[in-house]
Amino acid sequence: MKKLRIALTKGRLEDKTVAMFEQLGFDCEQLHNKGRKLILDIPNANMEVVLAKAADVITYIENGVCDIGVVGKDTIMEYGGSFFEVLDLGFGRCKFALAGKKGVDFYDGYNERTIATKYPNVTRRFFEAKGMDVRVVKIEGSVELAPLLGLSDAIVDIVETGSTLRENGLEVLEDVAPISAKLIVNTVSMKLRQQEIEDLIEQITSVIA
Ligand code: PRP
Repeated sequence: MKKLRIALTKGRLEDKTVAMFEQLGFDCEQLHNKGRKLILDIPNANMEVVLAKAADVITYIENGVCDIGVVGKDTIMEYGGSFFEVLDLGFGRCKFALAGKKGVDFYDGYNERTIATKYPNVTRRFFEAKGMDVRVVKIEGSVELAPLLGLSDAIVDIVETGSTLRENGLEVLEDVAPISAKLIVNTVSMKLRQQEIEDLIEQITSVIA
């Protein structure tokens, strides 16, 4: 039978996902010694793993070329898409926050605020809910630079330990949303391979409990 194909987010979530697979008894030898190989077999389970950038994990799941994905809630909130979000994996915990220069009152005055972020959709929704018009500038990385350089009044970004903010004289002004790793499933796979997928979800649930 065709292997169940799982898309994993490369980087921060990767090690924790592999550790979870090992707890499930999966042989992750190929994942540990992957070199430049992109599709990796789990020889002792009917599964293979694809390593991809977070937003691509969603694309592969939506298009049905992967059955299951592990991706952060941050990416799900920013890109959306139609798939089932079936499980909170409990790792990769951090949050979206609005942050700005320490001691500066962000809400003071009536000028239009500029917000720098890697997550323009999350940012727009956050301020829409407040009924506030803001200008959103998309930045690709190290968003914390934007207020320091005078490009923006604040940022919406991921805060994990808070040390990036602290070391740059910034502080959290408001929490936007909690984030953690989620298990997502293609809608067709959920029907066609229901038993296998439910078994896997059950196994995962027991190790993360
Ligand atoms: C993320 C995020 C913050 C930092 C937060 O960036 O955008 O910059 O981590 O972590 P902390 O609260 O523990 O300091 P990442 O390292 O993914 O790099 P990037 O900003 O260049 O994308």
